[in-house]
Amino acid sequence: MDQLPRVLFSELKIKQRVQELGATIGFDYKGKELTVISVLKGSFIFFADLIRQLDLPISCEFMGVSSYGNKTTSTGEVKLTLDLTEPLNGKHVIIVEDIVDTGLTMQYLINNLQTRKPATLKTCALLVKPDCLKCDVHIDYIGFNLGKEFVVGYGLDYAGLYRHLPYIGILENADY
Ligand code: IMP
Repeated sequence: MDQLPRVLFSELKIKQRVQELGATIGFDYKGKELTVISVLKGSFIFFADLIRQLDLPISCEFMGVSSYGNKTTSTGEVKLTLDLTEPLNGKHVIIVEDIVDTGLTMQYLINNLQTRKPATLKTCALLVKPDCLKCDVHIDYIGFNLGKEFVVGYGLDYAGLYRHLPYIGILENADY
């Protein structure tokens, strides 16, 4: 890793936004139990920070998905690599994603999870690229919108690297 990404969202800015999202979700689900699903690998850091802001009874679940494509673009074909361990029937569920780019992964997840008959199903993404959406997918809780730039850090990777960075940055002069 010979070049550090340029900071787009600082550690402090992310922390403040995650606190706000936690407060909003906590308000919306007051008095209810919530099942929160982390979509691996990218959402693991955001998820860990977000759930610690939730003053609710929550269950944590994990799903693994990978989309086919090259390092920075997805074909939209999604493969399930890890499934939930519990049924969702009758539960209040939020899907937590790191980033929504084309939206095809989130669309796949919504379609897949709706078949399991949750009482309610909502979506949360730390980052959304509105200009890159290729489908009509609704995100209920959004951390930040951004343009078409490819970002890394705070769980997001480029070729498996940079996930551990505490901030979100733009990788300039990357080979993509
Ligand atoms: P989708 O195009 O919305 O289906 O996004 C598929 C996946 O591509 C996301 O879950 C991320 O793992 C990855 N991805 C999309 N944009 C970026 C980015 O800017 N940085 C890192 N990963 C990204």
